[in-house]
Amino acid sequence: MICSTRKVAIIGTGFVGASAGYSIVNQNIVDELVLIDVNRERAYGEVMDLQHCVDFTTSRTKVRLGSYEDCKNMDIIIVTAGGPPKPGQTRLDTLEISAKIAKSIVHEVMKTGFSGIFLVASNPVDIITYLIWKESGLPRNQVLGTGTSLDSSRLKSILSEHIDVDPRSIQGYTMGEHGDSQFVAWSHLTIGGKPFMQILEEHKEKYSGIDLDEITDQVRKAGFEILNRKGTTYYGIGNAIAYITRSIFNDDYKIIAVSTVLDGEYGMKDVCMGVPAIITRSGVKEVVELRLTEDEMEKFRHSEQILKEHMAIIGL
Ligand code: 2OP
Repeated sequence: MICSTRKVAIIGTGFVGASAGYSIVNQNIVDELVLIDVNRERAYGEVMDLQHCVDFTTSRTKVRLGSYEDCKNMDIIIVTAGGPPKPGQTRLDTLEISAKIAKSIVHEVMKTGFSGIFLVASNPVDIITYLIWKESGLPRNQVLGTGTSLDSSRLKSILSEHIDVDPRSIQGYTMGEHGDSQFVAWSHLTIGGKPFMQILEEHKEKYSGIDLDEITDQVRKAGFEILNRKGTTYYGIGNAIAYITRSIFNDDYKIIAVSTVLDGEYGMKDVCMGVPAIITRSGVKEVVELRLTEDEMEKFRHSEQILKEHMAIIGL
């Protein structure tokens, strides 16, 4: 009996790639994990360190060092290569170097005949996802980015401190650019299925201290609050990568705010942005189109404009 094994390669084994690998091994998401990095010595150090985790987990993950040739048979290739912004920089400021790295990666991978799914975390993730999709020639459902999945998790975490509810009982999305122009779709945020706007209306007194713009700003700046203290971020994004990877392999039909190529959804085309999308074994099955308010759509279009202006810099 041949059971299909779950094979993943992570290209880029810096903090983000290594953290994603650690989450994937700890959560037993794959059968085989291959680490690929230009710095093979460091990558081999991560391989050995992860191999030494396996005994403490509930099922075996074969972890090994690999190279581009291994990509041919991978189900999912996770791309994390690229550097964090320097102090004072935004994620968009890393575009040119990240685009150069991403271009070389996708060409090397596609030379092997890879036909699986790209999951991109390299920043600026929306543009790098679009670039990898374009250069790979793969169908748009097979190239997705972490998008605003991490921002949406931060939103729930921060909001849960204000309303004292488990973040996992909050359903809602940050959308648009994984960056400064992101926005929260407050009109569609629910807590235990109850619209948050209705809760605020019914409990004006109790929640008078909640400022939606302030929370939106806290979410938007969270990555930099961490980066300014520890030099970069990796646990949140590492788990976001693992969460999406598991959803793909489990054919979950879960809705996650990933970065995906828009082709008319929300009236937008030729751009990747964070939108709620149904995730299945084939990648992005469908974008979920929320009926956003005019104010939210205006923010969404602003995000699109920012990204397209920067895409033009690298000829996209
Ligand atoms: C973050 O916001 C890495 O961009 C990612 O943490």
